[in-house]
Amino acid sequence: MADTVRLGLMGLGTVGSGLVELVNRNAAAIEQKSGVRLEIAKALVKTPGKPRPLPPERLCYDPAELVEDPEVDLVVEVIGGIEPAKSLMLRALEAGKDVVTANKAVLARHGAEIFTAAARAGRQVGFEASVCGGIPIVRAISSGLIANDIDEFVGILNGTSNYVLTRMYKDKLPYPEAVRLAQEKGLAEADPSFDVGGLDAAHKLIVLTELTFQVKATVDEIELEGIEQIEPVDIEIADQFGFVIKPLAVARRQGELLDLRVHPALVPFEHPLGAVSDEFNAVLVKGDAIGEMIFLGKGAGSLPTASAVLSDIVEIARNSGNGVMWNPLASRRLAHVEATSRYYLRLPIYDRPGLIGKIGTALGDEGISVTHVQARVAGRADEGQMMIITHPTAESVVNRALERIHAACALRGAPVTLRIVD
Ligand SMILES: NC(=O)c1ccc[n+]([C@@H]2O[C@H](COP(=O)([O-])OP(=O)(O)OC[C@H]3O[C@@H](n4cnc5c(N)ncnc54)[C@H](OP(=O)(O)O)[C@@H]3O)[C@@H](O)[C@H]2O)c1
Repeated sequence: MADTVRLGLMGLGTVGSGLVELVNRNAAAIEQKSGVRLEIAKALVKTPGKPRPLPPERLCYDPAELVEDPEVDLVVEVIGGIEPAKSLMLRALEAGKDVVTANKAVLARHGAEIFTAAARAGRQVGFEASVCGGIPIVRAISSGLIANDIDEFVGILNGTSNYVLTRMYKDKLPYPEAVRLAQEKGLAEADPSFDVGGLDAAHKLIVLTELTFQVKATVDEIELEGIEQIEPVDIEIADQFGFVIKPLAVARRQGELLDLRVHPALVPFEHPLGAVSDEFNAVLVKGDAIGEMIFLGKGAGSLPTASAVLSDIVEIARNSGNGVMWNPLASRRLAHVEATSRYYLRLPIYDRPGLIGKIGTALGDEGISVTHVQARVAGRADEGQMMIITHPTAESVVNRALERIHAACALRGAPVTLRIVD
């Protein structure tokens, strides 16, 4: 006899509608495989009169009607944003319902409050869809790889940024055109800053960090850089030197220190993340038992994200969802470690005698040695660029060298500094 789970959806947008489609399409097969029968009892929406994938009698506009409905066993939060999503999740838990959410913003900022409320209510919270959409990375880290001591993971957690950089690389588009193309394809919002500025990836990094290291981090503790400063010349020079530029999120533990970063970086062609293109996401995990393992797939979109939501629903219904829960009591804080890496520097220079020597001296005075140098003046004194690749060095040392360069010679604009992730 199948267990029936009656779902209350909060939100019927991209993910909510995908969930309805997937339940309609695959509910019978899911029941056969898992013994869980799925029923969509009700959906909460905001705007009356929009076309919906559910009949009008199953829609509601008052949150209380959904979270307090005794006919709803499990609430799926796919509204997005902080409020009212957070308060509604808390109300649903208090009302004795399990919750599944795709909302990394709420989890990154208020995860402890949500999971404490769930523990108090004896309910479960599933959040597989909050990181990398359809890729089951949350379950892999919290369950499949539980036997491993994981020291490091590095991922491409934002599909929009990866798509923009891919178009700049493959189609030689300048940044604004690549962003426009992403918007036309529905891969970027009208205001893309949340994605291209790195905040979306930072939220996902916080969720994965807590899961992997039981360490609580905040956005302020993450070194955050977007992809907005990347120009075609950076992509071209990186390519000449054997690299491709990727939007990375990095978490690396060194003893009791943790290095958390979101930034674009040069990645060697042969690196497993170097070939992850377009809107795809990937996470490379390093565990002491498994070595390196890579997870790759669609990190967003209606059906891939709904697939992750549905997997949480089935796990919770089978009462085996504990594997995807945080233990807020186990969460600790770690001090931050400064990262050392090779660096790519682009200095906008004037075509002036002695300038290259002064830059070389400034780098040398900070003990930075370089492996590649290229200077271009393109026939015009006001369009020069100097590109440098360094040996491994600490970020603070690079910053001091840049101060010396500023003091020694005038630059045309701000230098671009990108890490190399080997
Ligand atoms: N889209 C993706 O590919 C993706 C991937 C991974 C994770 N996520 C996460 O999934 C969540 C949902 O994203 P989405 O793209 O599906 O969003 P969306 O398309 O904007 O849909 C949001 C839905 O929530 C409803 N809603 C918004 N505010 C409401 C309120 N105050 N009361 C009641 N209903 C309200 C909207 O109602 P109306 O229809 O009436 O406007 C809409 O149906 C977000 O947390 C997002 O980060 C999305």
